[in-house]
Amino acid sequence: MVTKYIKITPPVFTGLDEAADALKNGRLVAFPTETVYGLGANALDENAVREIFTAKGRPSDNPLIVHIADISTLKLLVMKIKPEAEKLMHAFWPGPLTLVFEKSPNVPKVTTGGLDTVAVRMPDHPVALELIKKAGVPVAAPSANRSGKPSPTLAEHVLEDMDGRIPYIIDAGPCRVGVESTVLDLTEDTPVILRPGGVTIDMIEDVIGRVKQYKTEANIEMIKSPKSPGMKYVHYAPKGEVIVVSGKNKVSEWINEKLSEDEKNSIKAVVVAADENIENYSAGIKMSYGSIKSPQEAAASIFRIFRDCDRLGAEKIYIEAIPEYGIGYAVMNRIKKAAGGKVVNLE
Ligand code: TXA
Ligand code: MG
Repeated sequence: MVTKYIKITPPVFTGLDEAADALKNGRLVAFPTETVYGLGANALDENAVREIFTAKGRPSDNPLIVHIADISTLKLLVMKIKPEAEKLMHAFWPGPLTLVFEKSPNVPKVTTGGLDTVAVRMPDHPVALELIKKAGVPVAAPSANRSGKPSPTLAEHVLEDMDGRIPYIIDAGPCRVGVESTVLDLTEDTPVILRPGGVTIDMIEDVIGRVKQYKTEANIEMIKSPKSPGMKYVHYAPKGEVIVVSGKNKVSEWINEKLSEDEKNSIKAVVVAADENIENYSAGIKMSYGSIKSPQEAAASIFRIFRDCDRLGAEKIYIEAIPEYGIGYAVMNRIKKAAGGKVVNLE
């Protein structure tokens, strides 16, 4: 299959019609959202959705998020819309919050990995919204990476993983947020955050009161009896060993002591740290995730950094922990998963 690569620069959408028609007619289209690139199919077309699982190499019991461009489409997908859902949609849509509802019979079980619930979100990206509107169907879309790779935050990442496997890739540049959406299950009495993301627990609780959130450590251990099927799969881990180091001071001293002479002068070890601290490290290769004061910068760069480490063939990757406030919590969740939960705490 030849993959057609379409570059779109909003507010001009030339070239999008062809991709929207293809999407409507059962073909796959990778497209940008504000979080990461998604691999879309008509959510109501079982055969199209099956192709997503094939193209990604994704286990068929891992459900997909259905993307919509207007709230009226939601009624088609879910049994009922609770007042909490109304409030959250009003506060955060379009945006990086996915809500889990009881599904309506219109949604095929292939889309929901066999579950009776369906995850829905309205992405905050002009190209995603325009594509969904033009296609005129709800769009099931997981992140557009091959299973086991980091989510793509650039169209080049999608091409790296999917060239020749899907008919269309739409490129609209880098994703603004950079980590995937928050997934909130509203089917329980107390809503549960199944995956932390751009919309934080504080932001949600300000709108609907108390919700539950599993700590990342707990959620790595919960893998045997997961609430969200996605939790049970091994998450992306770079080929090298990831060591996350946290602590107020001495992080750079600790890491520099660990680095062998060989690692200091080669590309075997990579240190990933904040702009403000990066000069303190003596590794052969250093990558910055942005300012320590801006967890958004770390969110926007972390998956690209993971891919770059693999490309270099890094054997050890030392990551300076980032403060876990705001979206920093979600970034650390992804970093801890990449490290298999291993965090060195120097305090
Ligand atoms: O930001 C995002 O959410 C991106 C963009 C493309 O929208 N999408 C994304 O999809 O990250 P994916 O498939 O890579 O991750 C979806 C997560 C998985 O962990 C899945 O198990 C969970 O959401 N999920 C989907 N439907 C669910 C459901 N009905 N119940 C519980 N968890 C669900
Ligand atoms: Mg994914």
